[in-house]
Amino acid sequence: MLPEVVFVLGAPGAGKGTQCSFIAKEYDFVHLSAGDLLREERQRPGSEYGEMIEEKIRNGQIVPVEVTCSLIHKAMMNSGKSRFLIDGFPRNKDNLEGWERAMSDKTKLLFILFFECSRDLCTERCLGRGAAGSGRSDDNLESLQKRFNTYLHDTMPIIKHYDRKGLVRKINAEVCPEDVFDCVKKVFREAGLEKRIAN
Ligand code: C5P
Ligand code: MG
Repeated sequence: MLPEVVFVLGAPGAGKGTQCSFIAKEYDFVHLSAGDLLREERQRPGSEYGEMIEEKIRNGQIVPVEVTCSLIHKAMMNSGKSRFLIDGFPRNKDNLEGWERAMSDKTKLLFILFFECSRDLCTERCLGRGAAGSGRSDDNLESLQKRFNTYLHDTMPIIKHYDRKGLVRKINAEVCPEDVFDCVKKVFREAGLEKRIAN
């Protein structure tokens, strides 16, 4: 059986990471955040990509897919599991095409979870996260403006592409995390994905 994948998309601050950690707790899915994998690679001593990644992150730009996709692929292999939430990917055409080249026939794409949230609320959340000590070099107003531009110009067309294929499950992410998760559970139920059996 092919590994199964759910892509998780939405503006910066929409709550992708929060919801993925809820899902990973209750369902048999491994949470892989493309942003987290890139931040880890940036920190890895001897990484040849560290500086390039930091520059892209600070400027809200997207890292070339060869780097991101190979980090995702490695994490999938190392997990020994077969169901994955891939959070923050594919973010642009390069990401999408790179995934299709390298991974689409090795995996089964189930659907796209799309967390929809206004720019004002997303900005407020990211600035709050920065003030609370996220330690992220991009949770500041200047980086956020760039991240939003990238989201609108590069990521929205990807969401539209998948929507035309009937794969997008849109969720209102402006309510509290627990209420957002109720909608997520409904999507999973409708897809026939059951909660993990406690053991
Ligand atoms: O998803 P997250 O907000 O953690 O992503 C942070 C940054 O990581 C993005 O703004 C971008 O610079 C980089 N990134 C990327 N390609 C992805 C996901 C994240 O270059 N697919
Ligand atoms: Mg995240």
